[in-house]
Amino acid sequence: MEVQIREVRDSDLELFFEHQRDPDATAMAAFPARERDAFMAHWASGSGAPGVIRRAVVVDAELAGNVVSWEDDVRLVGYWIGRDFWGRGVATEALTQFLRQVTGRPIYAHVAVHNTGSIRVLEKCGFQRTDPPFEDEEEIVLVLHNN
Ligand SMILES: CC(C)(COP(=O)(O)OP(=O)(O)OC[C@H]1O[C@@H](n2cnc3c(N)ncnc32)[C@H](O)[C@@H]1OP(=O)(O)O)[C@@H](O)C(=O)NCCC(=O)NCCS
Repeated sequence: MEVQIREVRDSDLELFFEHQRDPDATAMAAFPARERDAFMAHWASGSGAPGVIRRAVVVDAELAGNVVSWEDDVRLVGYWIGRDFWGRGVATEALTQFLRQVTGRPIYAHVAVHNTGSIRVLEKCGFQRTDPPFEDEEEIVLVLHNN
């Protein structure tokens, strides 16, 4: 299996839209799905915006998901992998490659407390739970200070 990241193309958005409305994925991420217009508007508004860095994740030449980073006082990272690609190390490899390209630190991630897979992905990439660990009861914040 070969995992690569590349610039996002407009033609990727249809599949990203489908990924973010998968009920199992939204439950995992505790992040509500956007309707089509809201989703497309969200991606259009971020396109080329200062501080926004987006990559498509490609597995054996097939579009598999995305990794994104943005600024909201601090630099943040998030990712979404389509369910067909879960459980094969794709998120870990994609985030590893992304963190080689996006070198600003610290970089933070907010994760639902029950999203064990995502927490594991982040910890495998060197992120640590912040102290105090709980920002609230539903979300934890992890941070990567150095590469
Ligand atoms: C969470 C998500 C990114 C994981 O992607 P993935 O490609 O399956 O992750 P990986 O294969 O790289 O797995 C990394 C580690 O997490 C573990 N893991 C992955 N999914 C898991 C799950 N659902 N439950 C428990 N552990 C899980 C893997 O076993 C692996 O650990 P190991 O190396 O110790 O065996 C993916 O399921 C996803 O995109 N979900 C929907 C959106 C989402 O939750 N985004 C993150 C928001 S913060």
